[in-house]
Amino acid sequence: MNDVVTRISDPDQNVVLTGFMGTGKSTTGLRLARLLGFDFIDTDDVIIERHGPIPALFEVRGENRFRQIERGVAAELSTRRRVVVATGGRMLLDPQNERSLGASGQVFCLWATANEIIERIRQSRRGVDRPLLAGADPDARVRELLAERAAGYRRFPQLRTGGLDSGQVADEIAKLVAEPPTVRLGTTGRTVVGIGISARVAEVPTNDCTVVDVGRVQPARGISAVELIAIQFALAAHLDH
Ligand code: S3P
Repeated sequence: MNDVVTRISDPDQNVVLTGFMGTGKSTTGLRLARLLGFDFIDTDDVIIERHGPIPALFEVRGENRFRQIERGVAAELSTRRRVVVATGGRMLLDPQNERSLGASGQVFCLWATANEIIERIRQSRRGVDRPLLAGADPDARVRELLAERAAGYRRFPQLRTGGLDSGQVADEIAKLVAEPPTVRLGTTGRTVVGIGISARVAEVPTNDCTVVDVGRVQPARGISAVELIAIQFALAAHLDH
């Protein structure tokens, strides 16, 4: 078969980190930005700079107002290029935010077990800054929120962070970013396989184009970014036959 394999490479595409509180989005994001030579933006910091501390914002204006502010920040950041964005724990679970940030960036979800998250939050000085965990039993609240949100987080390629430091996680993401989706031009048409590729169809030659977006598959359990890459290779090999 006369296949030509072309890499779709957008070196300026943003990298967006989602995941539950305490999974290391901010520390990992900062290191990743340095590795990629990108700017780093933490959406919580943007909100704090403009509106003051998050607990006070929740208390005085309410969670709905906070979520509205988050949507505004997501829309603003979607116009940027070459940024690593560490998002607040629920930001990407809002479909509007997923659309805006997902269109200009590749999203990765940092994943940890409830016990790991509880331990990290205990050790973090930021623990007190998280109004959703301010009640009498923060550990139970972590388990409850994590269960509620698990399906939402599984929509994105997941990276397990347990036993790794933020530098190792950043290295892993940098490698995945350097492994961009491929376009295969075959005699029977074109198939595009990639993570989050459906948001970027405009960049792909369109005639007879089938888009297989492995970043949008919703498996029954969490799927790691490494597994997703394996699926990409398997699909690519399948196309050879
Ligand atoms: C939230 C997570 C926090 C912050 C806010 C709400 C959430 O960000 O946006 O307290 O709903 O998960 P971090 O994930 O950076 O802690």
